[in-house]
Amino acid sequence: MFSLLSYNTFGIDVKAARFIEYHSVEEFGRFIAKGCLDGNFLHIGSGSNLLFTQDYDGTILHSCIKGIDLLDEDDGSVILKVGAGEIWDDFVAYCVQHGWYGAENLSLIPGEVGASAVQNIGAYGVEVKDLIVSVETVDNSGELHTYSKDECIYSYRNSLFKRSENKKIFVTAVVYRLGKHEHFMLDYGAIRRELSNVGTLDLKSVREAVISIRRSKLPDPKVVGNAGSFFINPIVTSTQFSVLQRKYPEIPFYKLLDGTVKIPAGWMIDQCGWKGKSLGRAGVYAKQALVLVNLGGAEGKDIIALSDAVRHSVRQKFGIDIHSEVNII
Ligand code: EPU
Repeated sequence: MFSLLSYNTFGIDVKAARFIEYHSVEEFGRFIAKGCLDGNFLHIGSGSNLLFTQDYDGTILHSCIKGIDLLDEDDGSVILKVGAGEIWDDFVAYCVQHGWYGAENLSLIPGEVGASAVQNIGAYGVEVKDLIVSVETVDNSGELHTYSKDECIYSYRNSLFKRSENKKIFVTAVVYRLGKHEHFMLDYGAIRRELSNVGTLDLKSVREAVISIRRSKLPDPKVVGNAGSFFINPIVTSTQFSVLQRKYPEIPFYKLLDGTVKIPAGWMIDQCGWKGKSLGRAGVYAKQALVLVNLGGAEGKDIIALSDAVRHSVRQKFGIDIHSEVNII
């Protein structure tokens, strides 16, 4: 059995029957030929969005495909192909160093490039789909396919690759377009506030501002086991929202283009009094109620028990169902 302790940022001590890492599409093909994918399998990234509730009786797959290649450029942009196994934040740092715009608001998001394209990671008004041109994949029979961005059907923290029937499709590389001309997304209030302390506006200062905000609100998984936001922010109709706003005039919200409204689950959990509280060895993080943490030695079922209790409170108080962003295995 293979310990997955260092392969999930929640720090859950579970084991897998087999663990396979591959460094190229060719090497992956050799594992298929040997029959390594004949039973159950699960492809993971760096385990920053996973919660294991029991040992995994199958094969865990992990891509170590590396490389950042400049495919093309013109006056306004660069097109880069990045291996699925590159660390996402190393790629952001690389873009900032080269003076390429677009990824800086996504600084310090844990995880790897492959998962960025599956999860459609996002923060501070930017989603990775805004940068994606195409996604290269291999499936469990070794078939290669390139999906255009439109074919990936991106939406808030969601994509084609998250559908259960597509769990046999694995990202091998992602092609991104970054801008060469100055363009920032600073609408998110906290970024402007943070930047005003620094005084300069450039790629490096925006990256530093984002890193500083994240460090102040989100726990470092190396210190406290967690998987970032545990829940997705729910989206309600404008009618549902009006009812809520009459009752809670201070409710924070983001209006979406289609007229629906996204409500921060962290605020609702906070209002329910859960912030900083715990249930057994699982806790609600004291600085951001959207994050559940392992207080030490928690098992998957401890985190699930807490998330069920939190979900129940939110349903009772606000009449809204909140759902997990984390993949529960
Ligand atoms: N809030 C509270 N109490 C809390 C947490 C939040 O009142 O405990 C309020 C805040 O004051 C603010 C609002 O809720 O008015 C939104 O909070 P925040 O700005 O922290 O953002 P979020 O909606 O809770 C989302 C993403 C984060 C991302 C931030 C910034 C999701 C599920 N989460 O959180 O992403 O960093 O916005 O863009 O969309 C992640 O996905 O793992 C993640 C950390």
